[in-house]
Amino acid sequence: MNYEETLKEIQEEVTPLFGKGKIANYIPALAKVEPNQFAMSLQLFDGQSYHVGNSDQKFSIQSISKVFTFTHVMNLYNESLENRLGLEPSGDPFNSLVQLEYENGKPRNPFINAGAIVLSDMLVSKYKKNTYEEMLKYIQKTCDNNLISIDEEVYLSERKSGFKNYSMIYMMKSFKNIKNDINNVMEVYFKLCSLRMSTNELSRAMLFLSNHGVDPITQEVFLTQSQAKRVNAVMLTCGHYDASGDFAFRVGLPAKSGVGGGIVAVIPGKMSLCVYSPRLNSQGNSLIGTKALELFTTKTGFSIF
Ligand code: DON
Repeated sequence: MNYEETLKEIQEEVTPLFGKGKIANYIPALAKVEPNQFAMSLQLFDGQSYHVGNSDQKFSIQSISKVFTFTHVMNLYNESLENRLGLEPSGDPFNSLVQLEYENGKPRNPFINAGAIVLSDMLVSKYKKNTYEEMLKYIQKTCDNNLISIDEEVYLSERKSGFKNYSMIYMMKSFKNIKNDINNVMEVYFKLCSLRMSTNELSRAMLFLSNHGVDPITQEVFLTQSQAKRVNAVMLTCGHYDASGDFAFRVGLPAKSGVGGGIVAVIPGKMSLCVYSPRLNSQGNSLIGTKALELFTTKTGFSIF
């Protein structure tokens, strides 16, 4: 397979879509990025990687951080989610409050905001004040790179404008589904969303999920085979919020998006991918990123189905 050629073809084929979709502007600092960007990276088990566009351009990982939060909690709590969140697609936007209230403060899944906030609370219960530092070390280990850091401006902007996220955590606290101090938990949640990574770094970070939980290059064990299967299953069913069905239909891969414009995707037994393009479709997923991944599975035949 000529991956270099395939990535170039994809870049050419998505170019007419530049201008479509909108940049996330509900976090003021995110609204400042140059909208017409595109990068895509592919990471293989033998250490080879292929890239197109500016694959070293760092961007705000936003909800892609929910994958790290979920994998870390799965491992730390040995797969037990303590009955504090579900594993079903929400069918609602990522920051919906309605469902959370009528389901008694128990989020539908780990990949909507409320779910990741509960997971952040579980992390704070274990690591206390060191939670963010422990998570940063973990994320750096997944991509074998200690140059990952936070975008301070995005972090402060999220904290200042995260009214809906605060509403969710207060509501969950009222249902006794948050055990720690609200500000400590939100600090962790916002900081993880505000990390900056490139498609190169994110595709590398996802490699363990393509290889049953073990990084095939460093041999680091992040998850058991069973845990990796579970995380990938939830990425397939819930990784794109209320567009998860549509994404599975078009692309056919476990994947997770973020409002920064990134999408990571996993091809079990083969490789991991990341695509970046900041203009979003109406459900908050990268418009060009979704198209690029659809083209990739169509051209290579590498969907999981
Ligand atoms: O909590 C928020 O609203 C953002 N920090 C993350 C949301 C996000 O990326 C949802 N994604 N598609």
